Amino acid sequence: MNIHESEKIAGTLQAMGYTECDNEEDADVIVFNTCCIRDNAEKRALGNIGAIKHIKKSKPELILAVVGCMTQQDGAGLNLRQKYPYVDIVLGTNNLAELNNAILRIKNSGKKSVLIDPNERPEVLEGELKYRTSGCNAWLNIMYGCNNFCTYCIVPYVRGRERSRKMQNVLDEFKTLVDQGYKEITLLGQNVNSYGHDLNDGSNFAKLLEEISKIEGKHRVRFMTSHPKDLNRDVIDIIADSKNICNNIHLPIQSGSNKILKLMNRHYTREYYLETIDAIKAKIPNCGITTDLMVGFPYEEEEDFEDTLDIVRKVKYSSAFTFIYSVRKGTKASLMPQVPPEVSKDRIKRLIAEQNKITKELSKGYECKVYEVLCEDNAPKKVGYVCGRTDSGRLVTFEGSSDLIGQFVNVKINKSQSASLFGEIVEE
Ligand code: 5AD
Ligand code: SF4
Repeated sequence: MNIHESEKIAGTLQAMGYTECDNEEDADVIVFNTCCIRDNAEKRALGNIGAIKHIKKSKPELILAVVGCMTQQDGAGLNLRQKYPYVDIVLGTNNLAELNNAILRIKNSGKKSVLIDPNERPEVLEGELKYRTSGCNAWLNIMYGCNNFCTYCIVPYVRGRERSRKMQNVLDEFKTLVDQGYKEITLLGQNVNSYGHDLNDGSNFAKLLEEISKIEGKHRVRFMTSHPKDLNRDVIDIIADSKNICNNIHLPIQSGSNKILKLMNRHYTREYYLETIDAIKAKIPNCGITTDLMVGFPYEEEEDFEDTLDIVRKVKYSSAFTFIYSVRKGTKASLMPQVPPEVSKDRIKRLIAEQNKITKELSKGYECKVYEVLCEDNAPKKVGYVCGRTDSGRLVTFEGSSDLIGQFVNVKINKSQSASLFGEIVEE
C-alpha cells in the first residue's frame, strides 16, 4: 500500500517536471512517505527526517515534505512542525493530491503548508498520476481505509473508514495495465473481502474477481489483504477456477488463541479460521498460504502462545510476517496491561524458529518439480542469475539474463535452502 502511494507521489512530481535522482544532496524536493503501524516504523521515519537537516541547512531552497499515515495521528502534524521546523509540507493520507499545490505555494510565496484530514469519508480519487517502479508488477488500489478496529491497530484512525472504488474504474485500470504489458497485478485494500459493501450497487469482492478473471491475456493476479472473518467460499471457488488468479492467499491470523482473538476484536475463532484453511486446501491443493502473526499482545500467556505455535504447525504457512505487539496511542489495547518485553522477545524467537522449520520442510517439497515462474528481476548479488515467483508466491533463483524479465518460464527446482529455491530453465 505504501509503496504504491509512493508511486503516486512520484507520479505527481514527474508531472511537475521533476526527475528521479540518485542521492539526497542532489534533490530539489524530498518527500518522506511515512508509516506508523508499529513504533519502529515511526522511529525510523523520524530518524530519517532528522538525518536530512544538514542538507536543508546548506541548501535552503530544498523542499521537504512529510506525508502519509504518521502525520494523521492525533497532534502529529503540529508535533512534526515543532520538532522539525525545517519541514516545509505536512500532508495527511488523503491530501496527497495537494502535493502539487503545496510545492507551488512554497516556490511562489515561501509559505509552508500543513494539511491533515478530518478522517471522515473523503472522496475516492480517480485518475491519480502514477510513476510505477515495480518492473513487471503493478499495484492497484481497489479500496481505501478500514472499518474493523482491531484493538491493537492504528490503521482505521489514520486512514479512515472503508471506501471502495467503483468496479468499472478498477476494471478499466486493470485492462490498461494489461495493455501496458504488466504481467502481475496485485489488488490492494486493508480488507479486500469487504470490497464494494459501501457502494450499495451490488458490487462485492467475489464479483470483482470474477470480472477480472474474464480479462484476456497472460498475466497474474494477486490480492491483499484478506480478513479471515470475511473470506467467503465464493472467493475460494473463483481462485480455484481461474487460471490467472494466483493460488496464493495471505490470511493474517494474528494469534491462535481464542482468548487473544477476542481481545483483539478479530471476530473469528481458531476453529472458524481452520475451517477456512481446510476449504482452501480442499479446493486449491497447491495454494501458498501466508499470514501475519503477533506475539506479546496484552494478556497473552504461555498457553495462548502455544496455541499460536499449534496453528503454525497445523496450517503449514509457506511464510509468515511475525511481529512483536507494539503499543499504538489511541487504540483500545494501549489501555490494557502490557506483556514484559523479554517475554515477547523470547516468544518471537521461538515462533520464527517454528515457522522456519515449516518453510524449510515445504521448500523440500518443491525439489525436482517444474514450475511456471514469472521472471521479475536480476538476482540480488548474483551476476548472470535472475529471480521470479511461482504461482504460489515462492521466490526462485535461476541462471539467465535480464532479457527474461517480464517473461513466464518453466523452471525445474534443483535445490532448496530454507525459504530460497534454486533451479534451471527447462523446456515445457
Ligand atoms: N503491533 C504489532 N503489529 C501490528 N500489526 C498491526 N498493528 C500492530 C501493532 N500495533 C501487524 C498485524 C497486521 C500487520 C499489517 O501489521 O499483524 O496484520
Ligand atoms: Fe488494522 Fe484490523 Fe483493519 Fe487490518 S483489519 S488494517 S489489522 S484494523
